[in-house]
Amino acid sequence: MQNFDTILTLPSVFLDRNVLSPHFVPDVLPYREKEIEKIMLAVAPALEDQRPKNLFIYGKTGTGKTCTVKRVMAEFRKKTIFPQDVYVNCRMYNSRYRVMQKIGKTFISELDKVGFGISHFYEKLLEYIQVPYENGNQKRIIVVLDEIDMVKDLDELVYTLTRMNDEISSGSISMIGITNKISFKEVLDPRSKSSLCESEIVFSPYNSIQLREILAQRVKLGFVEGTVHDSAINLAAAIAAQETGDARYALKLLLKAGEIADEKKSFLITDREVEEARKNVDNTLVGEIIKTLPKHQQLVLIAICNLYNNIGHYQRLGQEENLEENRLLSGEVYEEYCKICRKFKRIPRSARWYREYLNELEMLGLITTVESSKGLRGHSRFIKPGYEPQQMLQILLESQQKSESETKVIYDSDL
Ligand SMILES: Nc1ncnc2c1ncn2[C@@H]1O[C@H](COP(=O)(O)OP(=O)(O)OP(=O)(O)O)[C@@H](O)[C@H]1O
Ligand SMILES: [Mg+2]
Repeated sequence: MQNFDTILTLPSVFLDRNVLSPHFVPDVLPYREKEIEKIMLAVAPALEDQRPKNLFIYGKTGTGKTCTVKRVMAEFRKKTIFPQDVYVNCRMYNSRYRVMQKIGKTFISELDKVGFGISHFYEKLLEYIQVPYENGNQKRIIVVLDEIDMVKDLDELVYTLTRMNDEISSGSISMIGITNKISFKEVLDPRSKSSLCESEIVFSPYNSIQLREILAQRVKLGFVEGTVHDSAINLAAAIAAQETGDARYALKLLLKAGEIADEKKSFLITDREVEEARKNVDNTLVGEIIKTLPKHQQLVLIAICNLYNNIGHYQRLGQEENLEENRLLSGEVYEEYCKICRKFKRIPRSARWYREYLNELEMLGLITTVESSKGLRGHSRFIKPGYEPQQMLQILLESQQKSESETKVIYDSDL
């Protein structure tokens, strides 16, 4: 029988799995020296009793924005005697209220109770910042707002923090906003935009050489020596560079490849494990995309996967018309979608909406479509699932069940 002692002493390629966690911040960040310097220059005034300018950081996902800022702020903290900065993950603190509450609680312990209104946080922070530190220095607060695009009422938040800064006679509050959504800046009120973007830094995606070094660094820290082939590191770096230059994806590949090597008991990470990891990681990512789809897009996708599993009829059609094999007709998918809606007690949306859904699903790579040749049943589209339909169906049905039980909970508690 297995017991913990035998489990814990099982051989593994991992020396320290924590090193591969997305939250681990390495001491050295290759290829981010310039960015580190720029951020240090931006926050340095706070160490000289001056107000740092607000800073806006943009870069695609996995380009090291979060870890670079965290690295700099860790160094910053070493230079200060008093708490002067707060890191806010706006995915979690996604409204002006929550952000203000988080800032307030960080600096003022009495705000750690529930039930205060936003004006209370505002007033208390204002009072707090205006009183200099014991050593006579003014308070120079830096608020890091990571994934700032997640804040629902961002204009109001930026306005509140800017106004606070204008109102205080001593001390200051500055923002570092981080996002991977470039378009988000355009939806901001011009006033918030100019406050937030006093200075800007752009992080560019990594190429395969850079990713190789980032991975090699983690391999040294996280894996038993000799368990990871150089070619496997190169392959993981090349795959990630080809996708989007995302270091997080590259690290995920490595972590999964390690798990696969352990499962197989081969304890060796070669190209093969990386290839397998790629399939697995991609499937997980697809799962995440599917789960966050709006309800009706999920229902359309269920219809497509369902029909695709009963492909016999369409295969025949495909051969007759000499079309690419195994495609579904959009009209028939719409009929199936209506049926599925009835099953899930939803009212089907119009055909116009349905066409929009198809476009969106195609943009996400979940389906592919081709226009039919003229004359064939009007202007129809032929549809094919982008991934293994059985697998997508499983995720979709789980997701539907979950939302049904959530709806039920809401309904029950309403009674
Ligand atoms: N230069 C680097 N050296 C070492 N590791 C890095 C480097 N850049 C990124 N990473 C690692 O890659 C992963 C993703 O980085 P990070 O979370 O900072 O990306 P991000 O730009 O904030 O992405 P997102 O926009 O999705 O939030 C992390 O595990 C991080 O440690
Ligand atoms: Mg980030």
